[in-house]
Amino acid sequence: MKNIVILISGSGSNMAAIVRAAQRDHWRKTLGAQVAAVISNRPQAEGLALAREHLIATDVVDHTRFATREAFDAELATVIDRRQPTLVVLAGFMRILTPAFVTRYEGRLLNIHPSLLPAFTGLKTHQRAIDAGCQVAGATVHRVTADLDHGPILAQAAVPVLPGDTGETLAARVLTQEHLIYPQAIADLLRNL
Ligand code: GAR
Repeated sequence: MKNIVILISGSGSNMAAIVRAAQRDHWRKTLGAQVAAVISNRPQAEGLALAREHLIATDVVDHTRFATREAFDAELATVIDRRQPTLVVLAGFMRILTPAFVTRYEGRLLNIHPSLLPAFTGLKTHQRAIDAGCQVAGATVHRVTADLDHGPILAQAAVPVLPGDTGETLAARVLTQEHLIYPQAIADLLRNL
C-alpha cells in the first residue's frame, strides 16, 4: 500500500478534500494508496478532529516544545517515518522546513501554495495579489525543494480577482480550486509511483 502522510497546521480543508477524493475514487483499489496519517504541529488544529472523524490516525508534534528548527524537524521525521510514507503532503503546514528534512523526503514531498507561483511566494498572498492589481489569482501544487515555494510545479488553477474582493473573499475562491487540484495532482503522481 502506498501511504500518504498529510501535514497540517490549521483547518485542514485541503486534507479533508484529499481524504474525500480517496474515498470517492476508491484510491485503495484504483491506486493502491491510502491516507495513512495526519500530523499537525499544532495540538489545537481543527483538521485533527476532522481526520479522526474519518478514522485516520493522527499525531501531534508541537513545535513549541523544541528549542530549534532542526530538533523539531528531526522528531517530525521520526513520527512521519513510522507511517512508511510514499508521499508526504503539506496541506496548510505553516512551518519552514530545514534542508535536511527536505532532502530526506526529496521526490515525495508536495505542497500547495495559495498563489500562481512563481508570483507571491510567502504569506498574505491574496492581499498582495489584490494590491498589485492582478486580474487573476490562484493556487499551485508543487514539489518541495530547499528553495521555499520554488519547487517544480505540478498543477495550477486560476480564478478571477473581482472588483471589491478582499483577501478573505479571494482566499475563499482560491480555496475551492485548491480542493480540486490537490487531490487530482496527488492521484496523478501516485499513478506513476
Ligand atoms: C491553504 O490556502 C493553503 O494553500 C495555504 O494555507 C491554507 C490552508 O488551508 N498554505 C500556505 O499558505 C502554505 N504556505 P487548509 O488548512 O484549510 O487546507
